Amino acid sequence: QPNLFMGEPIVIALDGTSASGKSTNAKLVAKALGYVYVDTGAMYRSLAWHCLEKGVALDNEKAIASLCRRWKAELRNDDGHIRLYVDGYFPEKEIRTAKTSAAVPTVAAVPGVRKWMKIKQRDCARFGNLVMEGRDIGSNIFPETDFKYYLNASLDERAKRRAADGVDENLAERDKRDSQRASAPLMIALGARVIDNSAMTAEETSTLIINEMRERLEAAG
Ligand code: DC
Repeated sequence: QPNLFMGEPIVIALDGTSASGKSTNAKLVAKALGYVYVDTGAMYRSLAWHCLEKGVALDNEKAIASLCRRWKAELRNDDGHIRLYVDGYFPEKEIRTAKTSAAVPTVAAVPGVRKWMKIKQRDCARFGNLVMEGRDIGSNIFPETDFKYYLNASLDERAKRRAADGVDENLAERDKRDSQRASAPLMIALGARVIDNSAMTAEETSTLIINEMRERLEAAG
């Protein structure tokens, strides 16, 4: 496999607040560098959807953790995008509904869930070099990686971006829930490069990351 770093797959950790442009930029960076793209938020969303489907009460941590231990969820590489299939199905539409979005932070706060996700997310490295987006990738999932970025933008700008996608949601509330949970909260990982892209296009943001990555990999030989 080309482009290994010290014999290991390269992992670019891309963390940040909601609607800070993680997905758009992660996809652009993955495409430019030829890495596979992993959306960890989609994995938590899939579990939240599965809990709703199975009628698991969201205030029942034990039941959520137990369902997570038992569900038949399997990673697949679809054209460079790693996806978690549930019983052989990828719930692409279902995980983006308002109902699922509202349920995710609760599900994502359960320690047993985060333990399961960490194992699955680390296992993604078997597909090759990764651009992995999330909230705790640099701080918790791949703390050993040298390549960490943290995206943010003003609340105003992020609300505008969500509204442009036709989604009206309380971003400040979700950031707060993601940042204040006890288990692997959203935080800026040590050594992460922080990029405030309030006044930047995705093209500009991703170019910054792509160029820096190319320079660093070249310097490392
Ligand atoms: O990035 P997103 O909006 O699809 O994430 C959905 C939710 O999942 C978000 O509220 C926080 C949670 N999440 C998380 O706790 N850890 C991650 N690595 C990714 C997402």
